[in-house]
This record gives sequence, structure tokens and C-alpha cells, in this order.
Amino acid sequence: MEPRGRAALVTGAGKRVGRAIALELARRGMDLAIHYNSSEGAADEVVEQARQLGVRAAKYRAELTDEHAVNAMFDAVTTNFPELAVLVNSAAVFFPTPLDKLDGATWDSVLDVNLKAYWLCARRAAQHMRALGRGKIVNIGCVSSKRPWAGYLAYSVSKAGVMMLTECLALELAPAIQVNCVAPGTVVFAEQASEARKTQIRAQIPAGREGDPQDIADAVAFFVTGPDYVTGQFLAADGGRGLK
Ligand SMILES: NC(=O)c1ccc[n+]([C@@H]2O[C@H](COP(=O)([O-])OP(=O)(O)OC[C@H]3O[C@@H](n4cnc5c(N)ncnc54)[C@H](OP(=O)(O)O)[C@@H]3O)[C@@H](O)[C@H]2O)c1
Repeated sequence: MEPRGRAALVTGAGKRVGRAIALELARRGMDLAIHYNSSEGAADEVVEQARQLGVRAAKYRAELTDEHAVNAMFDAVTTNFPELAVLVNSAAVFFPTPLDKLDGATWDSVLDVNLKAYWLCARRAAQHMRALGRGKIVNIGCVSSKRPWAGYLAYSVSKAGVMMLTECLALELAPAIQVNCVAPGTVVFAEQASEARKTQIRAQIPAGREGDPQDIADAVAFFVTGPDYVTGQFLAADGGRGLK
């Protein structure tokens, strides 16, 4: 897809990986709808940086587990950006949920953000993209979509669901809309990660380092600007960690 003249919505775009994805799409000439939930100040900074790159940008707040909030966000985004042709589902939660400590409410809270919200956003985006006659949806999964992370039961299940959601949507939305999944390994360490834990994880990565958010943004940009003949695919951006 020729990005110039098109617009993209990136969820969870105030910080970290989502922010890098949004700014990479802006560098490639796409107008930007920047979703945030609690990080309004960070979203304002992304809007400002995107505008400095010469594109239109605006921020939209939504609690993505709330179907009405998602629909209201899409109403507002598509009014402001009728050329919306790209959705990147990146907003998620990540915390340990070992089996014996996992209760139903916690299970629901992880699955609702990491999987149900991806579907809610994709459904609304697809309605708009079908009318437009084209579109790209990129879901941010995880290497744990294929291999579980010990102690992260709900998260791993949610990310396995993202992989299947990607394949289901790719089938349903062909030929006009392509749907693919970028699966990071460790990119930005959790704030509570100790130096010893970081060293241990780096030793498991053939690339010898954790990923940079830009590594993920580059992989997303491949799907957004790359061949329309590629759909339903899973691209691990993990420095080779999944090979071990
Ligand atoms: N970081 C890594 O090493 C890594 C590894 C593998 C996969 N991934 C995946 O890559 C993506 C981005 O990772 P990240 O580390 O940058 O994500 P993150 O910082 O954990 O979360 C991104 C954003 O998601 C938003 N969010 C969370 N719950 C929400 C809710 N209920 N409604 C609306 N927004 C909500 C938050 O927005 P606000 O701050 O505005 O509230 C948050 O800033 C995620 O899908 C993640 O699972 C990341």
C-alpha cells in the first residue's frame, strides 16, 4: 500500500512499542490516529512529534474493553480520518498469572484487553476499510503465541488467540483487507525486571540483545507497506529467540 494520503490508527500508542510503530508510520507519510487510555501526556507528545514529521495527527482516548467506547472511538476517528486504511492493535497488558493464583476476574481482564479488544477494533476497522475497498490490519502478538511463557498462563493464551484471530480475520476479510501478526520477543523489559533477570534473558537471544521498539515498528511497516499478496502471516521479531 502506498502510505502517503492514508491514515492509521495505532492502539496503545502513547508509549513504548506502540509509540515507535505510530511514529514509523508517520515517517512513511501516514496520518495518525493515536489511541491512549491513561497516558494522555505521552499521547500529546506523539501527536506533536507526528505533526513535526509533516502528517496530520490526533489523539483518541478509549478503554478498549468497553465495546461502546471502541465504537465511539471509531466514529470519531473515521470522521476525522475518512481515509483510515490501517489498524495496528498493540495495546495490551502483561503480568504474571501462574495457575494457582489466577482467578476468573483476572483471566477475563487479560483476555478482554489482549484478545477481545483486538477483535472489537478489527471489526469496526474492517467495516470502514471494506467501504474504502482496501486496508491492512496488523496485530501485535508475541513469541508466546506459539510457545508458552512459564507463569504467564492468561497472557500466553491471549497471545495464542491473537495468532488465530489474525488467521480468521485474514480469511474473512480477503481480498480487500490483509491481516497479519508481528510477534515480538522481549523488547522493552518490564519495569520491575532485575539486572540479573535481564542478563539471563539476553543470554537466551541469539541476537545477543533485547529488541528495540524500532525493530517491531520496522516489522509492522513491512506488513503495512508491503505486498498485498501476504495475509494471515506471523512474523516473529525476536532476535531468533523462538529458535532455541
Ligand atoms: N514489551 C515487550 O517486550 C513485548 C514483548 C512481547 C510482546 N509485546 C507486545 O507488544 C505490544 C506493545 O508492547 P508494550 O510493552 O509497548 O505494551 P504496554 O506498554 O504494556 O502497553 C501498551 C499500552 O496498552 C494500553 N492499554 C492497556 N490496557 C488498556 C485498556 N484496557 N484499554 C486501553 N488501552 C489499554 C496502555 O495505554 P495507556 O498507557 O494510555 O493507558 C499501554 O500504554 C503488546 O501487544 C505486547 O503484548 C511486547
